[in-house]
Amino acid sequence: MKQKLLSLVCCCLSAVTTAQGQTPVYLDESKPIEQRIDDALARMTLDEKIAVIHAQSKFSSPGVKRLGFPDLWTDDGPHGVRPDVLWDEWVQAGQTNDSCVAFPALTCLAATWNPAMARLYGECLGEEALYRKKSVILGPGVNIYRTPLGGRNFEYMGEDPYLASRMVVPYVQGLQSKGVAACVKHYALNNDEEYRHQVNVIVSDRALHEIYLPAFKAAVQEGGAWSIMGAYNLYQNQHNCHNSILLNKILKQDWGFDGVVISDWGGCHDTDEAVNNGLDLEMGTWTDGLTMGRTNAYDSYHMAEAYKQAILQGKYTMKELDEKVRRLLRLFYRTTMQHEKPFGFLCSDDHYAAALKIAQEGIVLLKNEGLLPINPATTKRILVVGENAIKMMTVGGGSSSLKVQKEILPLDALQARVAGLEYARGYVGDTIQSFDGVTVGRSLRDMRSAEELRAEAVEKARLADIVIFIGGLNKAGFQDSEGHDRQQYGLPYGQDELIEALVKVNPQLVYVNVSGNAVAMPWLSRVAAVVQAWFVGSQAGTAIANVLFGDVNPSGKLPFTWYASLDQCGAHALSTYPGTWRADHKIIDEEYKEGIFVGYRWMDRQKKQSPLFPFGYGLSYTTFKLGKATADKQELTADDKITFTLPVTNTGSVAGAETIQLYVSDLQSSVERPVKELKAFQKVFLLPGETKQVSLTIDCSALSFYNDQTGQWTAEPGEFKALIGTSSKNLINDYKFRLK
Ligand code: BGC
Repeated sequence: MKQKLLSLVCCCLSAVTTAQGQTPVYLDESKPIEQRIDDALARMTLDEKIAVIHAQSKFSSPGVKRLGFPDLWTDDGPHGVRPDVLWDEWVQAGQTNDSCVAFPALTCLAATWNPAMARLYGECLGEEALYRKKSVILGPGVNIYRTPLGGRNFEYMGEDPYLASRMVVPYVQGLQSKGVAACVKHYALNNDEEYRHQVNVIVSDRALHEIYLPAFKAAVQEGGAWSIMGAYNLYQNQHNCHNSILLNKILKQDWGFDGVVISDWGGCHDTDEAVNNGLDLEMGTWTDGLTMGRTNAYDSYHMAEAYKQAILQGKYTMKELDEKVRRLLRLFYRTTMQHEKPFGFLCSDDHYAAALKIAQEGIVLLKNEGLLPINPATTKRILVVGENAIKMMTVGGGSSSLKVQKEILPLDALQARVAGLEYARGYVGDTIQSFDGVTVGRSLRDMRSAEELRAEAVEKARLADIVIFIGGLNKAGFQDSEGHDRQQYGLPYGQDELIEALVKVNPQLVYVNVSGNAVAMPWLSRVAAVVQAWFVGSQAGTAIANVLFGDVNPSGKLPFTWYASLDQCGAHALSTYPGTWRADHKIIDEEYKEGIFVGYRWMDRQKKQSPLFPFGYGLSYTTFKLGKATADKQELTADDKITFTLPVTNTGSVAGAETIQLYVSDLQSSVERPVKELKAFQKVFLLPGETKQVSLTIDCSALSFYNDQTGQWTAEPGEFKALIGTSSKNLINDYKFRLK
């Protein structure tokens, strides 16, 4: 009450000073932001404070109208700006100005291994968001790829914390350079989708800090992210949107995060925990149908009326509320109140060019027995098979679904460059071409039987010089899609059988896999080439065609290990997925028993197994030679750096890019450590015959492990090895050095 009176007095005062022609401090752009926040905070009423910390519609929360703070509009994220939905419904609003450019999915971005692509991505997305008047983009996602069944892996940046960290930082910086906040998600341990609201993750401190948190930490500390989204799941029996350890202790106290913690939509469950455990902005809470009867269903949010009443009854002081509002105001000054923002552009030529560039750099050539690139002079009869050649992939998959101005389909792009190119569908998978009221593309209905479809494809394949099979997964439920995980590692819709039938009559087959996840490939030895094409957005067809025909020399590298079978993955080998239901069937405990041994860190310990394709792997149409690495020292101290340099030569006849990767191996350690860990990389572009010196520098942080006894990162003196090469399994250079 006292506070309320004070606010009232302040408001009157502000009216007076304004009337006298002075700019109030909170509006004075010459004043430091923290001072302006203090001033604004002192003028706000309790109702205004409560209002700014929870939603008022599906994607917006109120500003402070009386003081001139506009409403805050958020939007998904992370691959393009989602179409507007109705005020309180998920269905699209049917605007005519919200068709966007779809950028490649983040798995593809990670596969570029090129931080400059992430910066470009962030900047372009920021411009699209500005045009659409969105101040917060709900992305990027950096949850670690723990199992290839994960339904949302396509929205994330792979299995390695270092790679994800290097790629997330420029994305955040690029986006925020436009005055649009990144909302890095889903913090934390949201590594699979099945039962995502009920999963309680049990994980060691080492795995938490070494594997699952580094990309978030980098986004916060190096990227300067202005907001972060809490995850749906639980950690230590507390929902992550109000998890005291993750939010109060690690994020805010240890990492010094000064931005806003936003709940995932419907991820807030409890007023008390929300007030005390670090949540700042509650979004998407299910209103229990009250929308129908009450004047404002948003009043029933956990951080709305219930919180206000508790303050009025003296259960909480203003301390927690002011802390949240302060963060919201800081976000306002960084976004909605930032008047020097650049202009926004939607669907500009530059954005399409960027989407194409990123796609082309991210596509990975996995196998090539001389079939690619296709030479149109000698390869006349080309047959394309597969549903993914004609299916739009920007619609579906959950919250990342978009309404695009255009999406070039693979078949259209291929037909445009090859006269008389033949097509056979081969199978019918998912014919749905709509999501939340956005309907696109041609009808995919086909009433022919599976046998008829297959017979047609096989007959045509007999007569073809080459078969381009464009298949894989899609954005339907239980595939690469939010809310559920995949139910099998194998390809759906009988694609394996179809591929086997096709290679029997024509082994000149290139398999183009459209997905965000690895899939089983039992026929791998029988196909001549394999291309991992991801979900690459608006420019999909052009990018794929350019790679297949050699206009672009592929240079993507896998951001995850491509297991031969599920049991090669630690989470599955140890039967830790999806977890064990408690007796009351409310919570499912998922213990990350593999600890820090995720992805290649797990594979490296399985002496008798090899994945289909290792982490960091990808071929090119040219060849590269790596010379011997030298180092600028053999011994370093804790605050030193060490630089390794090696010559890299393009020994083939076309221009291309190679990614030089440096892994560190700790040879003397008091704790168990992975055989090796990625700690530096650099992508180098080379003309035929050209040589460049590549330098990779690491410091002590690259030698450290998280010491769960002290809660500190520790680098133990002793011997280390730097392993340098072109994939996690092709490390031709090794160099021993010592930490003093
Ligand atoms: C997703 C978030 C998304 C939000 C808003 C949630 O279901 O998990 O990633 O940003 O919805 O659409």
